[in-house]
Amino acid sequence: MSKQFDVVVIGGGPGGYIAAIRAAQLGFSTACIDAWSNDKGGPAPGGTCTNVGCIPSKALLQSSEHFEHAGHAFADHGISVSGLGMDVAKMLGRKNTIVKQNNDGILFLFKKNKVTFFHGHGSFVKADAAGYEIKVAGKTEESITGKHIIVATGSNARALPAAPFDEKTILSNEGALNIAEVPKKLGVIGAGVIGLEMGSVWRRLGAEVTVLEALPAFLGAVDEQIAKEAKKLFDKQGLKINLGVKIGEIVNSGKDVTVNYTDDKGAEHKAVFDKLIISIGRTPNTNGLNAEGVGLVLDERGFIAVDGDCKTNLPNVWAVGDVVRGPMLAHKAEEEGVAVAERIAGQHGHVNFNTIPWVIYTSPEIAWVGRTEQQLKADGVAYKAGTFPFMANGRARALGDTSGMVKFLADATTDEILGVHIVGPMASELISEAVVAMEFRASSEDIARICHAHPSLSEATKEAALAVDKRSLNF
Ligand code: FAD
Ligand code: NAI
Repeated sequence: MSKQFDVVVIGGGPGGYIAAIRAAQLGFSTACIDAWSNDKGGPAPGGTCTNVGCIPSKALLQSSEHFEHAGHAFADHGISVSGLGMDVAKMLGRKNTIVKQNNDGILFLFKKNKVTFFHGHGSFVKADAAGYEIKVAGKTEESITGKHIIVATGSNARALPAAPFDEKTILSNEGALNIAEVPKKLGVIGAGVIGLEMGSVWRRLGAEVTVLEALPAFLGAVDEQIAKEAKKLFDKQGLKINLGVKIGEIVNSGKDVTVNYTDDKGAEHKAVFDKLIISIGRTPNTNGLNAEGVGLVLDERGFIAVDGDCKTNLPNVWAVGDVVRGPMLAHKAEEEGVAVAERIAGQHGHVNFNTIPWVIYTSPEIAWVGRTEQQLKADGVAYKAGTFPFMANGRARALGDTSGMVKFLADATTDEILGVHIVGPMASELISEAVVAMEFRASSEDIARICHAHPSLSEATKEAALAVDKRSLNF
């Protein structure tokens, strides 16, 4: 007789483990199955985000930023550093410790919330009156049953067919977070979020980084004015970003990688790199789920097909996070996980897709919420725009980081905030004010009339809101 649960979650990333905790909080007997193993073969819940994504990348971004500041920025403060050195093994070790703390933290949370954890691979066996039978293949094999199933199996890096990842010279995000010594020449295919973040890490540590991007426009999803400003700043830092390229043959000798490509003017190039990161997007993990065996429908791009409430075509089977449509972000996965657990409990869980923030953790950071100026134009919405540069912000000057700006977009008639876009210091933190404001459907005037602490970077947000009606006080 298999163990019976009210809710079985397949996948223990941000979507899955949060859904399991919320379901248990709501009184359901809950199991979470996760396949990820650490280097000793033990469980490592937390998914891509904890193991090879958000957390380790931010740990390395921080270490590399410290190194860059010690090398250049400290001198402006009158601090001299001599004998500056770098121990990449220690840096990677610190990152691994942080990952393990997060894995252990999730195992602790499962215990605290009485979620039964299974370490292994989950797949559908069959559906019957008791619910869905799920096979867990780990060190041993067992069968469990859930009345409700939440699929949260996430995504993995998309490879170029002719250049498979070996994680030694051709790297996905996994290898890019584990390079043992700083490569002299690092190539990156794809100037998206991973390409820019990982390119920044290794550039700061001394690599010569060349980024090859197929599209002619830089960061096409970002507000054009912000993307242009960011590109200018990255160019200044020495990140070589080539737009509009066409990748040709890629040859991996095992010691280095040769990439043949055509640039935006049609000229042909042959670039040799010590390492090549390929970051051209991610594909959903549905292999081995036996989706077809129970008739779980995928969409034309291989994602599990769901409606706006994360319901699949099968009764009581839900799917959340990277394995379904929408932005591939940890906080989006978490919100969907909570909402689904609440819907199972008969509550009205909701996710507002219009107010999901995006952050790119480069230096300066890029963050946004809502619509861009180009989207508003395409949608035929009459809008007002206001910008404020960090150069005119006292705190930014004291910090020694005056790059970038805050930009507000508001409805021309009602003044409701339609989008906020930031490139600059601590944009990741500043964007939260805009998310709250948009969630409450605030106007730019609301933000303009709120008292912001002085001196703080958030005054740039207030000033950009004032700029919507051409009333900036400090610029
Ligand atoms: P995942 O985190 O992928 O977790 C899925 C889990 O399910 C994995 O543990 C997997 O092993 C397991 N699994 C899969 N199939 C099965 C099965 N059949 N049985 C059992 N277990 C299974 N997002 C942000 O919001 N902020 C960031 O800063 C950020 N940085 C990132 C940096 C990098 C380098 C990468 C690659 C991604 C980053 N992301 C970031 C994206 C973020 O990691 C994902 O959006 C998020 O992890 C998705 O969560 P998820 O739960 O849907 O899936
Ligand atoms: P991405 O979608 O952000 O960027 C991929 C880039 O590769 C695009 O600019 C695309 O035009 C380009 N590209 C595609 N095919 C190409 C080709 N053949 N040749 C050259 N360029 C090509 O994908 P990325 O960077 O792999 O990241 C995946 C996802 O992970 C992100 O979209 C995001 O959802 C998530 N992520 C989020 C982070 C954050 O929130 N800070 C950090 C890292 C990843």
